[in-house]
Amino acid sequence: MKIAVLGGAGYIGSHTVKELVGRGYEVAVIDNLQTGFIEAVHDGAEFIKGDIRDKEFLRSALIGAGFDAVIHFAACSLVGESVTNPMKYYNNNVGGAISLIEVMIEAGIDKIVFSSTAATYGEPERVPILEDDRTCPTNPYGETKLAMEKMFRWAGEAHGMRFVSLRYFNACGADESGDFGEAHNPESHLVPIILQVPNGKREAISIFGDDYDTKDGTCVRDYIHVTDLADAHTLAVEYLQKGGKSDIFNLGNGVGFTVREVIESARRVTGHAIPEVISPRRPGDPAKLIASSEKARRVLGWNPKHADLDEIVGSAWKWHKSHPEGYKK
Ligand code: UFG
Repeated sequence: MKIAVLGGAGYIGSHTVKELVGRGYEVAVIDNLQTGFIEAVHDGAEFIKGDIRDKEFLRSALIGAGFDAVIHFAACSLVGESVTNPMKYYNNNVGGAISLIEVMIEAGIDKIVFSSTAATYGEPERVPILEDDRTCPTNPYGETKLAMEKMFRWAGEAHGMRFVSLRYFNACGADESGDFGEAHNPESHLVPIILQVPNGKREAISIFGDDYDTKDGTCVRDYIHVTDLADAHTLAVEYLQKGGKSDIFNLGNGVGFTVREVIESARRVTGHAIPEVISPRRPGDPAKLIASSEKARRVLGWNPKHADLDEIVGSAWKWHKSHPEGYKK
């Protein structure tokens, strides 16, 4: 099977490419390198530089190249930035998906797996969250991902495409080799920010609110290892290849950890005291997000193998310690 991975130079994309190449698939990475890194493109994949909103470029990359499926990671993904600059998110995420669907129809590619998010749910009505629970995003990032899901659904019904939407919870960790990992600029995610302290780049970690209705007052999240996410993408593309119907799946471990518990884990893993300070709540943060991934386990046969928090944080530490500037040499 030949697979185009859009956004394959980014965090989750690069780990998925490694998994696909390892399983013997032919892979082409398509990325504009706006937030991705050329160093993150796996040696075993072809690389095509370009922007998916540019339909002429996309036609040249996808038509007649023999692709069986697309995996689509190429989107903006910072919640805070989406609130201050919503049109960037509509333009890139929704605009990119429109261009992609149109060119996939022209190219005759009828299968797509794409990155969605827990942010499609907004403030959950209950945890663990099920795929058919209410979707009511509280930020433009979640809105654009929900709009993309709906576009893929309607385009599928009209044009016979099938899609799998994977709603990730909190992606973290890094490849066991220590060669691929998380690198955002600016960084906003909890695990890499905590690890900036033992890496000497930050004095202390700020806890955004300690007065939530949770066991220690800090927010609860479902942290899922990026390698397990990579595995889920591969299973999803294989599911479509075998004729599976369009569907949406949550990806998480089904276990919640508080911000304090993640900091404690980083202290154990790094041996550093990691001082903490209490800061105000971050606007838009739900108290608790925990996935039910029962459906992904049952339908895709997904079985996350790296659920242990210290293992997740330890893999992230291996990457950040050896790459304090990310992919920059
Ligand atoms: N946090 C801190 N201090 C920090 C950074 C984060 O206390 O310096 C807290 C946040 O308030 C939150 C938790 O750590 O309670 C996790 O925050 P992240 O920013 O790492 O992740 P989010 O849960 O906000 O975001 C994740 C995904 C998004 C997705 C969102 C859905 O990264 O892509 O869940 O709500 F949109």
